[in-house]
Amino acid sequence: MFEASARLKKLPPYLFAEIDRKKKKLIADGVDIIDFGIGDPDLPTPANIIEAMKKGVDNSAFHRYPLGKGTPKFRKAIAGFYKKNYDAVLNPDEEIAVLIGSKEGIAHFPWAFLNAGDVSLVPEPCYPVYHIGTVLAEGVPFFMPLTADNIFFPELGRIPADVLQKAKILFLNYPNNPTAAFATKDSLLDAIKFCKKNGIILVYDAAYSEIYFEEKPVSFLSLPGAKEVGIEFNSLSKTYNMTGWRVGWACGNKELIAALAKIKENIDSGTFEAIQFAGIEALEGGQETVENLRKIYRGRRDALARGLRDAGFEVSAPKGTFYFWVKVQGSSIECANYFLEKGGIVATPGVGFGPSGEGYLRFSFTIGEERIKQAAGRIKEIWKKR
Ligand SMILES: Cc1ncc(COP(=O)(O)O)c(C=O)c1O
Repeated sequence: MFEASARLKKLPPYLFAEIDRKKKKLIADGVDIIDFGIGDPDLPTPANIIEAMKKGVDNSAFHRYPLGKGTPKFRKAIAGFYKKNYDAVLNPDEEIAVLIGSKEGIAHFPWAFLNAGDVSLVPEPCYPVYHIGTVLAEGVPFFMPLTADNIFFPELGRIPADVLQKAKILFLNYPNNPTAAFATKDSLLDAIKFCKKNGIILVYDAAYSEIYFEEKPVSFLSLPGAKEVGIEFNSLSKTYNMTGWRVGWACGNKELIAALAKIKENIDSGTFEAIQFAGIEALEGGQETVENLRKIYRGRRDALARGLRDAGFEVSAPKGTFYFWVKVQGSSIECANYFLEKGGIVATPGVGFGPSGEGYLRFSFTIGEERIKQAAGRIKEIWKKR
């Protein structure tokens, strides 16, 4: 009855609808499903943050519309976090804006800089919001494959000159979802140089910056020149198991922050101040819970690596994130269907994140170690029968 806009019609269909439908049916039939599909932490938010939130909710000063770019105290806590963890210096007044989760900011950012027909350079496979945010702003995504051959870093030198001319934004995300790849310092420095030379904004998505198992990932904002061209998005979601709370931030170049803040000022009214108050506790309170979280994920990663290798997969264990990017050959959708129907195991077909994800499955280890071991037994069983 109602004609959707051309903009809305350009959005891709939901690729996993069929797998979701099958999963629901199997659950209704009483099948015990082990779900590696969802990239959402299963563990609770640390108690000190919840306590702070309880206090925050009781404070009637927090019940009104929140301030524009976030409370000064929370922005100061974010700046402190960057100084302490990465030795990156941020001015809380001009270089930080609080978001309703980093997804919200990433999705709105293209509105501030793309005109119709302008290009965003988007790695694929990727978190879909980069190209969807681009399309909603009437921009055009130019996809750059991430493959084992290029160590999952886009080959910026291969972008055609006519595309480069129209390019306004480059999206990068490390540690990466879905490939779990890390970026080297040199490749990030090259990307900064590339953006400076071509007048392109570098949007750096660091959502998994604290989920690492060996060495810390390179911090984009601690690199020389990063703030001249770039804006980084991060949040409390993955580091403190707070995906449901919806709080994140953008930080970096002050012009980019001001432009995003202007868009937001016109479409939302900020993040509940009680949540920002609890966010201060997250960033400034004890960080043992984060260390413990890494330990838990490391144990799960190792259990899944053992299980997959035992079943005959060649896998290299991820250095960070909570994703395993597993080469399976052939159609990733067929393979995911096989895992689901024969083993009651949900894994996400790589092709859903972009064509270069074909031949891979993404396993999210946001489920307990015992369940992972149980899944490993099932995978071994069904994989040898195929
Ligand atoms: C790569 C990446 N960026 C950003 C987000 C958004 O996280 P949030 O909006 O919870 O901060 C996610 C969530 O899964 C993600 O995987």
